[in-house]
Amino acid sequence: MSQKDETIPTTQRAWVIEKLGIPRQALRLHENRPVPKLETGQALVKIQAAALNPLGWKSMGVLPQLARAKLSVPEYDFAGVVVDHGDTTFKRGDLVFGSLDPFFALNSGEGTLAEYVRVPSSALALRPAGKHPVDVAGIPLAGQTALQALSTFTRFEANQCILINGGSTAVGMYAIQIAKAKGAKVVVTCSPRHNSLMKDLGADETIDYTAAPLHEILTRSPPDPQFNIILDAVGLLDPSLYTHSPAYLAPGGVFVTTGPQPKSFSANQLWLAFKTAVAVARPAWLGGVPRGYKFIVMQTNQRDLDELRELCEAGKLRSVVDSVTEFDNVLEAYDRSMSGHAQGKVVVKIAD
Ligand SMILES: NC(=O)c1ccc[n+]([C@@H]2O[C@H](COP(=O)([O-])OP(=O)(O)OC[C@H]3O[C@@H](n4cnc5c(N)ncnc54)[C@H](OP(=O)(O)O)[C@@H]3O)[C@@H](O)[C@H]2O)c1
Repeated sequence: MSQKDETIPTTQRAWVIEKLGIPRQALRLHENRPVPKLETGQALVKIQAAALNPLGWKSMGVLPQLARAKLSVPEYDFAGVVVDHGDTTFKRGDLVFGSLDPFFALNSGEGTLAEYVRVPSSALALRPAGKHPVDVAGIPLAGQTALQALSTFTRFEANQCILINGGSTAVGMYAIQIAKAKGAKVVVTCSPRHNSLMKDLGADETIDYTAAPLHEILTRSPPDPQFNIILDAVGLLDPSLYTHSPAYLAPGGVFVTTGPQPKSFSANQLWLAFKTAVAVARPAWLGGVPRGYKFIVMQTNQRDLDELRELCEAGKLRSVVDSVTEFDNVLEAYDRSMSGHAQGKVVVKIAD
């Protein structure tokens, strides 16, 4: 392991999850949290910017303290600079970005709403050259989700037609650009206020999801040709978009989702979750939906981070930033992310 640089402090400022609840109840800013010690294969990164993901506040609200390392730091995405490393290929001064594996974060207590984070090198990559940390911090988790949805979970080819439900979600925006870079036709759903941004990012068509239930719109006016892939980047709990999909998803086509996630434990939400489970489990020969269904769980890895960097450097991918918040005002950033109406990444600036 390399010698620690003298300028690395022994303690740092970090937001810490102290109890179960929404961020305003659960989080407190600690002024003297120890800077983590490195193990072989890890790098210590001084964080310049972190980005919020719904997984951060959702897990804060449901995961009891017993399930995570004591007093853990929230969030996964970061852009920063390597200040120390334990036998990794990274060296001090490397400008990097990455996303912590959620299980690593859970077990280690590491998170990115802190001045320093230790990161297994598999979750780290050089960041796009010449980009500001704020402009790339939000790429790793949502970008890898989009990339893996389109390349690992589906056999996605040029000239295919894809529907992205939730084009204005962070996952959706990266998916639009990745799909266009691969030569696909892209149709997105969004509320009308996002139309021009969707077109800027490359979407060929937009559908107003607020006008009527989406499966009804698509069944009434099916696309010609039918979609090859539907990516539900919203994570709908209601299975209707899937159960009606034979009307607009081609035979052999795949429905891939980032959810489905209940918003509460209400009877209605549990009923929808049950209906989804039944729709997914019932085979076509027993009257089930004759289309594939896949639920993506993003797995952070250096190869995908490198691919995202290359797309950025080629001018084919950019991150849309909804807002930038100072480190001390993280709770305001959470309010924005939890509104469900952000147009892009909610970023927290941590250091210059
Ligand atoms: N499984 C995984 O590995 C994984 C990874 C990443 C994310 N996710 C999940 O994927 C979902 C998206 O995450 P994200 O960070 O990309 O979300 P986000 O950026 O916070 O999404 C906000 C956007 O969603 C739009 N929206 C909300 N409801 C919609 C609907 N019914 N139809 C179309 N658009 C809608 C909002 O636009 P309007 O306000 O204009 O409607 C807003 O622009 C979350 O549920 C997240 O937990 C899962």
